[in-house]
Amino acid sequence: ILEDADVVADWAAQFVMQRINEFAPGPDRPFVLGLPTGGTPLGMYRRLIDFHRAGKLSFKHVTTFNMDEYVGLPRDHPESYHYYMWNSFFKHVDISPERAHVLDGNAPDLAAECRRFEGLIKEAGGVHLFVGGIGPDGHIAFNEPGSSLVSRTRVKTLAYDTLEANKRFFGNDISKVPRQALTVGVGTVMDAKEVMILITGAHKALALSKAVEEGVNHMWTVSAFQHHAQALFVCDEAATLEL
Ligand code: GLP
Repeated sequence: ILEDADVVADWAAQFVMQRINEFAPGPDRPFVLGLPTGGTPLGMYRRLIDFHRAGKLSFKHVTTFNMDEYVGLPRDHPESYHYYMWNSFFKHVDISPERAHVLDGNAPDLAAECRRFEGLIKEAGGVHLFVGGIGPDGHIAFNEPGSSLVSRTRVKTLAYDTLEANKRFFGNDISKVPRQALTVGVGTVMDAKEVMILITGAHKALALSKAVEEGVNHMWTVSAFQHHAQALFVCDEAATLEL
């Protein structure tokens, strides 16, 4: 538990840098990092870019897998997670484009795209560190309430609460929010060696309490990480209001 969202961003970025640098990745030995989108991780990305510019951190031998992507938004739509990742992070660091994997929400065969993504993670040898955020309804990636806790990458129809929470990015017009997304499964994230979830703001307080103080429950999918051996929740004071 840290003071506020700024300190959470600092802490998370330091943690990611430490993990990558202590692993000392090389051309045949990439560090495999899972990444989220949303408002919460933006501060972490800004700090990682600063570390890179200061010469303290390279992404040359880092392979990344993003958690999710909307279905049907053009890649260059400012709210697509492709656009978000390139604009907020990838283009500012030395990652090679072929190592930065984001699900393709416009693939002609979405189920095949999800299988391909799982295959790439496997080929990379699994994820060393998966960084995530949560929705106010306790979803991880787009694993909406009711998702199987052993789910893999697949198409999900978004819950009304998620459309409501994300309409702020679409001119506050709920009808503009895509109804479906591709998302890694809870099981996909559970397979990572280490998981770090960032939770800030009072609007996430109920989700955090459901995640850690009640039983593992598929209606609050982030609670699955109670069963993970190396899961870390980094939160600000405001998010702990219900604990
Ligand atoms: C979306 C994403 C999640 C993210 C959540 C929270 O629903 N699919 O991966 O964690 O938003 O976003 P924010 O950080 O903006 O609250």
